[in-house]
Amino acid sequence: MSGVDAGEAREAELAAEIAEWKRRRHAVILAHNYQVGPVQDVADYVGDSLGLSRQAAATDAEVIVFCGVHFMAETASILSPGKTVLLPDAGAGCSLADTIDAERLRRWKAEHPDAVVVSYVNTTAEVKAESDYCCTSGNALKVVQSIPEDREILFLPDFFLGSWIQKVTGRRMHIWMGECHVHAGIHPERIGAARREHPEAELLVHPECGCTTSVLYFLEDGAIPREAANVVSTEGMVNRARSSPAREFLVATETGILHRMRRDNPDKRFIPVSDGAVCPYMKMITLEKVRDALRDLRVEVRVPKETAARARLSIDRMLAIA
Ligand code: 13P
Ligand code: SF4
Repeated sequence: MSGVDAGEAREAELAAEIAEWKRRRHAVILAHNYQVGPVQDVADYVGDSLGLSRQAAATDAEVIVFCGVHFMAETASILSPGKTVLLPDAGAGCSLADTIDAERLRRWKAEHPDAVVVSYVNTTAEVKAESDYCCTSGNALKVVQSIPEDREILFLPDFFLGSWIQKVTGRRMHIWMGECHVHAGIHPERIGAARREHPEAELLVHPECGCTTSVLYFLEDGAIPREAANVVSTEGMVNRARSSPAREFLVATETGILHRMRRDNPDKRFIPVSDGAVCPYMKMITLEKVRDALRDLRVEVRVPKETAARARLSIDRMLAIA
């Protein structure tokens, strides 16, 4: 048996073990779009942060295995407090969520006592508990647009996402200087180079990218035609890849998303803007760890009751809007 065949046989074996443990545990497997292909393939649902939150809130399974990172598992636990939420690797964190904690947010709020606090979902439960609204890349615009025009906004923690929203809405916002080390590394020059190499390709950009603001300027001055670029969440990218008449796409986000795009659209071509855009935290989850999580019922992610109740208000406000 060749190395490739042996690898595929091992994956099939693990997938069968996972299916059996899932049945025994009355579990559901939720996976983010950045997970490795084999993990996406065993999941009951693959999606972006917003879709995963909705699935976590709606499931009637007893156990949720969350193939993503810690803040996502926390969000699932807040939305489904009666369920056991498992994160297959407790070390799967997020460099963006790490840029702010509750204490720093309280100090920032004290400087702007009348401001409305909008926190991106990539934050800890403690930070969400200090926030008025949660948002994801899929609904951040709608959430900010729902806030009365005369209110000042504190937006955190992603600077590029916040700047994009500020530019599109023209709102008065203070933006936290946080960034995701994976997306911040997708520089504007990469977009220029990729477009020169693939002039016919449609551009799909995640709003956390370091190139997002430049893409907006390119759109404004006509350097990129309106229909040739979309700034969207990971699920927005997957949907656009399906519905667009384009045959070729430049994808500016974490490369795990290419698995689903290529599987769903075998006749289209997907080119990463940056091959190096790989989230080390997302890649910590493997099939072995998913099997072990189900078998050993660990690592359980729980949020203290009082924090969960306060954080939930900000998430429910978001879900009510979009
Ligand atoms: P999405 O909600 O667009 O999937 O993004 C989550 C994330 O962590 C991006 O880095
Ligand atoms: Fe966090 Fe960036 Fe990884 Fe998304 S890609 S989970 S923002 S470190």
